[in-house]
Amino acid sequence: MLLGIESSCDETAACVLVDGKVRENVVITQQIHKEYGGVVPEIASRLHEKKITAAVQEALEGAHVHKKHLTAVAVTQGPGLMGALLVGFSFAKALAWSLDIPLVGVHHLQAHVATLFLQRPYPTFPFLCLLVSGGHTQLLQVDSHQRMSIIGRTKDDSVGEAFDKTARLLGLPYPGGTHIDRLAQQGDREKFTFPKPSVPHLDYSFSGLKTAFLYFIKENTRRDATFVACHIKDLAASMQGALVESLLEKLCEAADKTAMQQISVVGGVAANSYLRQRLQQLQKEKNWQVFFPALAYCTDNAAMVAMQGYFQYKEGIFTPLTDTPFARQKNEASVHKHV
Ligand code: KG4
Ligand code: ZN
Repeated sequence: MLLGIESSCDETAACVLVDGKVRENVVITQQIHKEYGGVVPEIASRLHEKKITAAVQEALEGAHVHKKHLTAVAVTQGPGLMGALLVGFSFAKALAWSLDIPLVGVHHLQAHVATLFLQRPYPTFPFLCLLVSGGHTQLLQVDSHQRMSIIGRTKDDSVGEAFDKTARLLGLPYPGGTHIDRLAQQGDREKFTFPKPSVPHLDYSFSGLKTAFLYFIKENTRRDATFVACHIKDLAASMQGALVESLLEKLCEAADKTAMQQISVVGGVAANSYLRQRLQQLQKEKNWQVFFPALAYCTDNAAMVAMQGYFQYKEGIFTPLTDTPFARQKNEASVHKHV
């Protein structure tokens, strides 16, 4: 019986995992950031502090598990907002120490990959993974639960940021990805064309596309103040189309280069319905086997932390109580070898 805790950004989350299966999963999303159009780190830390005990208690009660029966505490160690991470990490440390059970520090991005193992069928190693979250956009070759090589990554914005900025320009609330997805379902993808990013190798770039969209909106709004209101669905559909096609182009290239046919997508943007639909098409065309997490496990949650913690626990990979969280991905220089 393992407790997972996530507090790297704006979700205060706790999950009880029993024999590798989710028993209770609690996610408290901080709504206040909507007022600011993005996550305010200081507010996030304070709210984590306020909610973490309740989140953990709710998870334990919902799972009908007493804390004295826990065998380990898994927690996001990084990357993320330092203040926010410190709340979850310190809580987990104190709990592990008081119960005299192992602390398992988990890499947030590896935890996103672990969501693929929360439901059947699972991919088998090695497989390709497109990790698309609010903070990261990476192509990973996944060799094991711990060994993941970054074979491509964004040079600037993440695709989640691009979705959020697009939404903001259209006057939609934060986080904008779900709103773009919803509006795009009724829009025309072909209505507007935006420049395709051109980046060497398997890397991505979304800042050019974002700027092109900004100028396009500005220019058209200058001529017609009702432009966004009149075309919001088509704008959402066209921009979503451009972002998704850009993701898929490099994913196809990566699949060709690595000769891998098990293809997975994880992270908040993996919830996108058009991305899922396009991958189902590619699955047929290319004879791929495509894997997605359940929708509830795409955006940040503690089930993914508990699951990754479970894999590490089974291999005896524990974290000393003297360890601290890390805000950025460790060892930038060696990052192309390991996550
Ligand atoms: O993985 P996540 O919860 O947080 C990080 O680890 O960063 O991802 C959040 C991101 C946000 O940018 C949000 O707009 C995006 O995921 N997102 C979506 C959808 N649902 C969430 N983007 C596109 N379509 C969606 N349905
Ligand atoms: Zn995340």
